[in-house]
Amino acid sequence: MRELLLRLSERKRLAPLIMRNRASRRVARRFVAGQTLEDAVAAARALNDSGRAVSLDLLGENVSNEAGARRAAESYVAIFDRIAQERLDANVSLKLTQLGLDLSQPRCVELLEGIVAHAARLGNFVRIDMEGSAYTERTVQIAKQVRAKYENVGAVMQAYLRQTEADVSSLLASGCRIRLCKGAYKEPPEVAFAEKSDVDANYVRLMQILLPSGIYHGIATHDPAMIRATEDFARARGIGRDQFEFQMLYGIRTDLQARLVREGYRLRVYVPYGSEWFSYFMRRLAERPANLMFFLRNLLPRREH
Ligand code: FDA
Repeated sequence: MRELLLRLSERKRLAPLIMRNRASRRVARRFVAGQTLEDAVAAARALNDSGRAVSLDLLGENVSNEAGARRAAESYVAIFDRIAQERLDANVSLKLTQLGLDLSQPRCVELLEGIVAHAARLGNFVRIDMEGSAYTERTVQIAKQVRAKYENVGAVMQAYLRQTEADVSSLLASGCRIRLCKGAYKEPPEVAFAEKSDVDANYVRLMQILLPSGIYHGIATHDPAMIRATEDFARARGIGRDQFEFQMLYGIRTDLQARLVREGYRLRVYVPYGSEWFSYFMRRLAERPANLMFFLRNLLPRREH
């Protein structure tokens, strides 16, 4: 089922069908903060008020023309201005294919550098999300290239990829901050571990490389076992709670988010918003069968009482 949903998430033609459906919109609302920057700011404000930092993501990927890439870049500049105006504890996450990586790598880098430079002027930070493995090598290379000029840019590493340990080493050598996640795309067994136990073991191994590196990283997971392993390792090594942050997705395991904040850990919530929510939504459904059941139940007509 995961395979199928991830394959469907790449079918752009399916998007209008799913996105017009009222039940999908209702379920998507659990994972997506809304359609507009106003919605995202309101969600960020509420999260900040409860002690959680935020990373705002304007949904969108694989743009198919230059104008779309430019529009996305302009939107991110405007988001940084708004974050500053509102004094939010928030940074930004973006995808390189949203900045036209499929069209032209040099142009994509130029747009990215414009955003990172603007964020630097405001004392803020840009996280480059990691997409499917077709983009890994280019994304790592671009992250290092931009990190050589600006300190306020970071990358994401996926524990399910066999290549990741080597990529982590080279990113650390460039001083790059890393968000560690398990990985959300459909990947063949040649490039990614197929068994959850192997992904989890690699996640713990990578976390143990990242935490003592002296660089501020993000441990992004909702998995209590990964969180416990991180807490135990940090405690054993004397790594303070201010030397890294946990990260989780908007609307997922809010109970665990609250617990970590209560216990004095730093926690950042990834807050996606915008109209291009189809692929993001499908990846969230693929992660958990219960989400799919919830979605299917919502498809049934509701009885009015
Ligand atoms: P796992 O999938 O093992 O789930 C552990 C538990 O978490 C589940 O049992 C359930 O309780 C809960 N859970 C997980 N997913 C859920 C869902 N969708 N709905 C409800 N409950 C759920 N990926 C990527 O490829 N590139 C990226 O750039 C990012 N960026 C990113 C940022 C942040 C802040 C997070 C938290 C995650 C990402 N991801 C990502 C997604 C990541 O790769 C992964 O797919 C999800 O986080 C799910 O993996 P877990 O580590 O949560 O563990």
